[in-house]
Amino acid sequence: MAAAPIQLSVRNIHKAFAGKGPEVRVLDGLNFDIHEQDFVSIIGPSGCGKTTIFNIIAGLIEPDAGNLVYRGEEVPSLRGQVGYMMQKDLLFPWRTVLGNVLLGLEMRGVDRRAAVDRAREHLHAFGLAGFENAYPKTLSGGMRQRVALIRTLIMDPGILLLDEPFSALDYQTRLYLEGVLKQAVETFNKTVVLVTHDIDEAVALSKRVVVLSGRPARVKTVHDIDIAEHSPIAARSDHRFAGYFRTLCGELDIQTEAKQPETTAS
Ligand SMILES: Nc1ncnc2c1ncn2[C@@H]1O[C@H](COP(=O)(O)OP(=O)(O)OP(=O)(O)O)[C@@H](O)[C@H]1O
Ligand SMILES: [Mg+2]
Repeated sequence: MAAAPIQLSVRNIHKAFAGKGPEVRVLDGLNFDIHEQDFVSIIGPSGCGKTTIFNIIAGLIEPDAGNLVYRGEEVPSLRGQVGYMMQKDLLFPWRTVLGNVLLGLEMRGVDRRAAVDRAREHLHAFGLAGFENAYPKTLSGGMRQRVALIRTLIMDPGILLLDEPFSALDYQTRLYLEGVLKQAVETFNKTVVLVTHDIDEAVALSKRVVVLSGRPARVKTVHDIDIAEHSPIAARSDHRFAGYFRTLCGELDIQTEAKQPETTAS
């Protein structure tokens, strides 16, 4: 099958932050491509610059050098084209579930009735029908994450940037939401870039995994994940799953074999 056209190219992006001491070099010439309707996960050590590259793509900060090419055109950022679910995505406590979901559509000036219809459709698809008038504090963590995800999806962005959307959740809820996400992006034909610390989540969900080195980050490798299973749970029992998992652990220098305790001479 021919590869889908490239939607976004990240080209030679550099970024350093000024600190109290010497500046911190965070991104050191980052290069990768995202194809139309891709599902790419980015993994790398904590603090290597994953959120920073998302902030640059979303136009919240500027790179020091390098550029972004979106659908063949060089652009300063993808501001207005991305749906960005930030690492700590907070819902507004004074707005109901429906109010939170409608926020972006209101700002865009979408007709109220059409916006509410669209919101209800999404809430239904994510198992939140009946919670329209609930306030965030009365929801479980998994429900709040679903609301935040809907708020991102409902804007119908060209690309979804999801920064560790499930990391604070228990394993069972995470498995469930991975399935909901996968189904939603296939239904709505979305392109997703996901940052995760969870290698198993990256393998189960993605078509490709980009591995970043420690700071200053560069792309260490890009792995194609050739698992045809659509459901993230079924993907975990695919015979290739363990191989990918082990390879990626190796890339991140995570030991997969327990070390034998050293024997001391007596
Ligand atoms: N606005 C900023 N000002 C100064 N330093 C920053 C800023 N944003 C990020 N940094 C620094 O850049 C580095 C990378 O941060 P970033 O948040 O991108 O890492 P990350 O890979 O997302 O980490 P994690 O996996 O823990 O979320 C860190 O050393 C951080 O302290
Ligand atoms: Mg981060």
